[in-house]
Amino acid sequence: MNTRVLTGITTSGTPHLGNYAGAIRPSIQASVQPGVDAFYFMADYHALIKCDDPQRIARSRLEIAATWIAAGLDPEKVTFYRQSDIPEIPELCWMLTCVTAKGLMNRAHAYKASVDQNVARQAEPDDGITMGLFSYPVLMAADILMFNANKVPVGRDQIQHLEMTRDIAQRFNHLYGKGADFFVLPEVQIDDEVATLPGLDGRKMSKSYDNTIPLFEGGAKGLRSAVMRIVTDSRQPGEAKDAEGSHLYTLYRAFATPAESAVFRQELEGGMGWGDAKQRLFERIEQDLAPMREIYAELMSRPDRIEDILQAGAAKARRLSQPLMAALREAVGLRASSAPARAASASTKKAAGKRARFVSFRDEGGLFRFRLLAGDGQELFLSESFDNPKAAGAAIKGLQDAPLDSLIAQEGGQAVVSLDGAVVGRFDAARLDKVRQALADMAQD
Ligand code: TRP
Repeated sequence: MNTRVLTGITTSGTPHLGNYAGAIRPSIQASVQPGVDAFYFMADYHALIKCDDPQRIARSRLEIAATWIAAGLDPEKVTFYRQSDIPEIPELCWMLTCVTAKGLMNRAHAYKASVDQNVARQAEPDDGITMGLFSYPVLMAADILMFNANKVPVGRDQIQHLEMTRDIAQRFNHLYGKGADFFVLPEVQIDDEVATLPGLDGRKMSKSYDNTIPLFEGGAKGLRSAVMRIVTDSRQPGEAKDAEGSHLYTLYRAFATPAESAVFRQELEGGMGWGDAKQRLFERIEQDLAPMREIYAELMSRPDRIEDILQAGAAKARRLSQPLMAALREAVGLRASSAPARAASASTKKAAGKRARFVSFRDEGGLFRFRLLAGDGQELFLSESFDNPKAAGAAIKGLQDAPLDSLIAQEGGQAVVSLDGAVVGRFDAARLDKVRQALADMAQD
């Protein structure tokens, strides 16, 4: 069995170098490992929670799709799709919402942080907090459970969301699974090996610090000018540099081989000037990015091509989500009324109490008999005794299968019912119509 690895990418920005080294590159490498079945998708419904700028959402979806493909993702191998192309995801999200404790969501870090900020500035605790933000973890659970992911590679800030996903999955399995679980419990996968790149100012590269180095935006020129703005200490050319402590070296290592990195380090320690070091760093990154940038530009000029790839990805994903969703609808009782499941129709009848039925029992002598009851519970017919339950069952079946009139002979005021020459019971002939009706009702089932 392959391990199903799934992760989502929020589409609210333009990928930068840190995203590439920290997420895109390792994810693509993981997707080609033997025994891995990778599902990578654009979490564009999640993006709506943080961003109400339609242009930006649309642009970001395109850029992110083009970036991943340009970076080497093989859409034939990976199931690569947009969340919003899979209608089963919001549908599952609602089912999960209905079994998720509100108290569990109250504990979500992202929500609590927003509340804390509001309280700190003496605003209403929920000021500006949407249900989207509050329910964010449920939608994420739907993303993961829809495809029964085994492993979910994410950043540390997402660990709690994975715990919540497991809680929600267990709750659903318990309520509706009847011993056979619908959902696999996913495991979080935190890769500590993966590079976290420093940004221009040395803090973690992040959009929120405004310290990013662009991946493709601005071309080679944009990359070079960003690299030239990386902060360094004031050591002059000729002075030995502290390679370990320099951001340039950290960035260099994220792209170069160990051998290349060792040379770079020696040169820094030997007095290479920061200007030269930056040029070397730029060249090394550019060596990797240039071929990808070309594919990226090509794709961005042909959005229809990207759309085709994503539609094919969605079709592939829906081959799994549609049947699972059908089973889940069935499990919760949202089934088509033209195809009532056996268990449900039995319980409906019980609740309504309107259908005629046979009731078998053992009499005082230990023999087997049955009654035919009308929908309102009135006894229409009591059978003779049978030696064993099988014979009683056969008589019931005989009554149901043959036309009633062919089984009946009238004797005085009595209707005598016989099967294969043996009398199985008698009843007041005045009830003949009711008996006929009851048998006809049952035949409709
Ligand atoms: N919340 C994730 C993030 O901010 C993105 C995401 C959405 C995701 N759905 C997911 C990640 C499902 C993994 C699995 O990084």
